[in-house]
Amino acid sequence: MENKNFGYFDDKNREFVITNPATPFPWINYLGNEDFFGLISNTGGGYDFYKDAKFRRITRYRYNGVPMDNGGRYFYINDNGTVWNPGWKPCKTPLDSYECRHGMNYTRITGSKNGIEASVLFFVPLKTWAEIQKVTLNNTTSEKKTIKLFSFAEWCLWNAATDMENFQRNWSTGEVEIDGATIYHKTEYKERRNHYAYYTVTNAKINGYDTDRESFIGLYNEFADPQCVMAGKPSNSLAHGWSPIASHYIEVELAPGESKDFIFMLGYVENAQEEKFSAEDIERKKNGTLISSQDSDVTLVNKAKAKALIEKFSTVEAVDAAFAELAQMWDALLDKYVVKSDDERLNRMVNIWSQYQCMITFNFSRSASFFESGVGRGMGFRDSNQDLVGFVHQIPSRARERIIDIASTQFPDGGCYHQYQPLTKHGNNDIGGGFNDDPCWLIFGTVAYIKETGDFSILQEPVPFDNEPGTEVSLMEHLRISFNHVVENLGPHMLPLIGRADWNDCLNLNCFSWDPNESFQTTENNSEGSKAESLMIAGLFVVTGKDYVELCKQIGDNAEAERAQKCIDSMVEAVKKHGWDGEWYLRAYDFYGNKIGSNECEEGKIFIESQGFCTMAGIGLEEGMVDKAIDSCKKYLDCEHGMVLNNPAYTTYHVEMGEISSYPAGYKENAGIFCHNNPWVIIGETVAGRGNDAWELFRKISPMYLKDQALHKVEPYVNCQMVAGKDAAKPGEGKNSWLTGTAAWMWLTVSQYLLGVKPTYDGLMIDPCLDSSIKEYSVKRILRGTEYDITVKNPNGNQKGVKSITVDGVAIKGNVIMATPGKHVVEVVM
Ligand code: BGC
Ligand code: NOJ
Repeated sequence: MENKNFGYFDDKNREFVITNPATPFPWINYLGNEDFFGLISNTGGGYDFYKDAKFRRITRYRYNGVPMDNGGRYFYINDNGTVWNPGWKPCKTPLDSYECRHGMNYTRITGSKNGIEASVLFFVPLKTWAEIQKVTLNNTTSEKKTIKLFSFAEWCLWNAATDMENFQRNWSTGEVEIDGATIYHKTEYKERRNHYAYYTVTNAKINGYDTDRESFIGLYNEFADPQCVMAGKPSNSLAHGWSPIASHYIEVELAPGESKDFIFMLGYVENAQEEKFSAEDIERKKNGTLISSQDSDVTLVNKAKAKALIEKFSTVEAVDAAFAELAQMWDALLDKYVVKSDDERLNRMVNIWSQYQCMITFNFSRSASFFESGVGRGMGFRDSNQDLVGFVHQIPSRARERIIDIASTQFPDGGCYHQYQPLTKHGNNDIGGGFNDDPCWLIFGTVAYIKETGDFSILQEPVPFDNEPGTEVSLMEHLRISFNHVVENLGPHMLPLIGRADWNDCLNLNCFSWDPNESFQTTENNSEGSKAESLMIAGLFVVTGKDYVELCKQIGDNAEAERAQKCIDSMVEAVKKHGWDGEWYLRAYDFYGNKIGSNECEEGKIFIESQGFCTMAGIGLEEGMVDKAIDSCKKYLDCEHGMVLNNPAYTTYHVEMGEISSYPAGYKENAGIFCHNNPWVIIGETVAGRGNDAWELFRKISPMYLKDQALHKVEPYVNCQMVAGKDAAKPGEGKNSWLTGTAAWMWLTVSQYLLGVKPTYDGLMIDPCLDSSIKEYSVKRILRGTEYDITVKNPNGNQKGVKSITVDGVAIKGNVIMATPGKHVVEVVM
């Protein structure tokens, strides 16, 4: 068993098992995969939201609290005066045993104390707007036990941003109703909201409740010692304003060896205007079976939808069946690409965790994690286009919908909102646009979708500009203007103007900010008259431009293909002429036309992004530029934990460069190991046929090969955005886990470029790039309904180059297997 300290992988169950609750940082998981979501830490911390972590936050969470990870779904057990939680926190009473299993969209936390074992399974059933918490209490002693179980959830007053700042209003608005075992949260429901939330026990009666935080916890107590729990008695409080909560109290008797299940459910409901209120409850309120914090009778919540769901999940059988359905969904999702090799870490990454993380980043973009508070950012234009590339093989229809949503926020000149809000799907004005790499990513995402599905019809979809009805043009037209946006915005060296920033949000070459109160991303953008050009966009343009040309040919628009190809050729020439520094590709030209990322610079001599994209694009391959650039990356950027973003790191603030030079050396965009762009170099290495180098870097970036969980700090089962670089105080320390473009890029890299199984318009291309020690592996790939069982043999330990391929025993020419229906056995020799 590896990773003894904090946990280990259980591949059979597709779980990471945490065995010590005091992990180096909260190690979290995601519940739900459409509409209703939860974040859950290994001690039960976190929160739920519906669709949008800012506007529909259902439960409250305190970011950056003391202690860390404060607030969540807590179960308290008072066993004869000993108070403990199955997840250890918040009481932190030493447990006799603890285990947290993070699986595919579920988490199971089990703790035991004094002969009581409490196991809680958290998950969101498919197509359901509710989180289920199945609590199993087991008396392992030979005596009868009577214990007191308290649940706890704290309501967020819907808007997560105002919830944590506008107390003069918030502390007067909270309203609840109590109906049997169900506690309804209905703040602002009587006015403009069409939604409420509820927390219930579906299969048992309760012996008491609390809905007012102060009554339950006590003004000077904490989550760790709520006064009601400590006293072993609920106060049956009714919230009027302040902080409404939901806590159930159940007295549980357990015979020796007996086990009981309690099904808790926390849900969200929307009601149409005409159906908002419940007349029948007025009577029930009068006769006392319903309790409400509101005086007016005409505003009682219509509970029909909640009640129907409570009924649906009122038996253990129904809950178990829903849980089995979730597992089946993942069986099917993870069956589309399965590798078998003698490297169990590779198998684990490809077959489980990489694909899982791709689904999560697809769902959340950069909105809600333990590093993204859910209030700051919506869905990123570039981010979502990259995320969907990692996800498209799982549920293509959702990727399709996402592409249309993203494209609908584009402007007629090809420019884009940098972000949009998932709830409204409209561009986010606070952030605005002008990030000149953004348009290219729409080509990147769309092409990946078509290659996966063969669905060219998406190109004919009418898609508006800036969500303005009546402005629709075809998606293909959006791609054309995306391509043109680069061509129409070239600088003095005929390289792409950077605009506000390119992929590197912190390379702010046109902002010149001296005001600490402004954001680098939204402050004035002095692009007008600027000479600032980006080599990263140049490389990205060549990579995605080639895709665009190929797409034009596919749909028979040869004239457009020819025109586009000329633009690409000119860009390649411009890079060779003005973007090559002798040993590596330049990074940029600044506002004044000075070089960035050149040997002439004192700091920031070499940057990873342009090496990644220009090598990936194969610019100057014949002239040896690709190899030289990779050698330089290895020489100047590489370290034990991966490649840093730039070297040497900036040590002083450069107003002409912006945020990048605001970070201390070794962190984030200033010479941190930005995991996201390491795969770009890996792909560049595969372009040059350097399999050994590619796999070496791959193993540094994939968390499956981690050597030191404690140093890495964040979750060892998914990629994080940034690992502190060689100039940092603690090289190797990870930050910003889960929501990162690294997920999709690592997936793309390992599935298509290393293992080399790549969808094309015609079928599957087989083009592995291997570490010479890899002698054989197999991949099962389901593409457009056809199953390919591919075995790759590499008897001579080659790094690249397919010698022969047979399909169902028949040799084929070239390395593309045409997509024909059925099931095929493919044998590949390198
Ligand atoms: C971070 C970037 C991020 C940007 C967007 C910056 O502070 O360093 O990684 O993309 O903020 O908000
Ligand atoms: C995080 C952002 O989400 C992504 O879009 C950006 O490219 C990187 N930071 C680098 O700045």
